[in-house]
Amino acid sequence: MSVKKGKVYVVGLGPGGMEQMTSQAVQAIEASDTVVGYQVYINLIKDLVAAKEVISSGMRQEMERCETALSLAREGKTVSLVSSGDPGIYGMAGPLLELNSQQEDPVEVVVVPGITAASMAAAILGAPLMHDTVFISLSDHLTPWDIIKKRLHLAAEGDFITALYNPRSYSRPHYLQRAQQIFLNYRKKETVVGIVRNAARDGQEKIITTLEELPDFGVDMFTLVIIGSSRTYACGGKMITPRGYTI
Ligand SMILES: C[S@@+](CC[C@H](N)C(=O)[O-])C[C@H]1O[C@@H](n2cnc3c(N)ncnc32)[C@H](O)[C@@H]1O
Repeated sequence: MSVKKGKVYVVGLGPGGMEQMTSQAVQAIEASDTVVGYQVYINLIKDLVAAKEVISSGMRQEMERCETALSLAREGKTVSLVSSGDPGIYGMAGPLLELNSQQEDPVEVVVVPGITAASMAAAILGAPLMHDTVFISLSDHLTPWDIIKKRLHLAAEGDFITALYNPRSYSRPHYLQRAQQIFLNYRKKETVVGIVRNAARDGQEKIITTLEELPDFGVDMFTLVIIGSSRTYACGGKMITPRGYTI
């Protein structure tokens, strides 16, 4: 299989605006002829893409964006396919690489990592991810609820710190409460929980609460929830999981 001259950078934009992007991400976009992405994320970097050809589209059009990026690269263009946070965590890197691997004429793909929502939320909360952590998405758009449920049970039983992505949407308003009920089978109701909405964006909010009180707080698709382990504690407005050193 021959690899054509064009190239696709799958670029992680980080959770907010330009301040959270890596230099590698900025350089990839600067080196691109065309930037392809979800309209909301393109708006977050509008100054950077002002002089570029921009192809934006709406939600649930991920595969169309991948096809567009690959077809432009096959024409010889350098393309940035932008993705929020880290493109390798519930982002565009996987779908793009999968689709590219199925092509007769694949193009060069470079994955440019970004700060994922869990890292940004953790920094805002303090240091909750200092020990073994799992990421679970509560979205059943691409994963059946039975699998999500099983993973929640195992994370809770294993005393993992658990970062919940996609905690709520209009079509599934009760999933966070279901996750809470599963965790309460294994964890104390006082378990520390951190909630960050709009991390590094306008309207950023942070709450440190407990597993028992988790459903009392409004969460949406711009929110990340971190359920601490049995060792996580709250102190001075910070959520801390001990690393294990003697202090
Ligand atoms: C489809 S996932 C994309 C994750 C992204 N690739 C990343 O690495 O952060 C979308 C979910 O990420 C979380 N998220 C993304 N950006 C966020 C932000 N700025 N503040 C809080 N949560 C965020 C939310 O849970 C949201 O529902």
